[in-house]
Amino acid sequence: MTSFFRLVVAGALALLVQPALAFEVAEPAVATFDVDTTGLPPPPAGEGNPYRGNARAAEIGRTLFNQTCARCHGVDAVSRNMPGPDLTRLDKACRPIADPAVRAHCLADNDAYFLDSVQNGKVRVGVSHMPAWKTVLSPQLIWTLRTFVESRAPKRAAE
Ligand code: HEC
Repeated sequence: MTSFFRLVVAGALALLVQPALAFEVAEPAVATFDVDTTGLPPPPAGEGNPYRGNARAAEIGRTLFNQTCARCHGVDAVSRNMPGPDLTRLDKACRPIADPAVRAHCLADNDAYFLDSVQNGKVRVGVSHMPAWKTVLSPQLIWTLRTFVESRAPKRAAE
């Protein structure tokens, strides 16, 4: 093949491979963070986010998010041009549900998904996209992150 053609093929391959390489080795979870949990009530027993709508939990979650998640999901969960997805869209399908019980069920499913994603990280076909946080962040702290992200989500027009 001509050297020009070889160059084009190499360029196309580099473009294809590059985004995958960018995520190939997710950085390790950050073990050092500094967050003041004063005013956070102990989580009641039960499934799901115990802090939904709690302003203090959202405030703690914001500080923690910007220390541990922002480098991939964006400062204050604004994820434009970031490697991680926009987390404020997670509840997009739940928000328009009118029936409060069905809506709560939808949010509870996402609670479980959020907790599992953060605790165990994201590995696809053997490639790590996001580190696992279970040895670093307690469920209580993970719920403050979820509460913060929810507080940043776009509100329904009717609300
Ligand atoms: C090293 C970069 C990185 C860091 C740091 C990181 N994430 Fe992620 N996260 C990702 C990527 C990339 C994905 C998408 C992975 C996939 O879908 O395979 C993701 C996916 C997620 C998901 C699933 C989202 C969905 O729509 O499916 C949640 C929830 C999440 N991250 C929360 C967090 C939280 C909370 C933190 C901070 C404790 C955090 N992440 C830190 C890169 C990161």
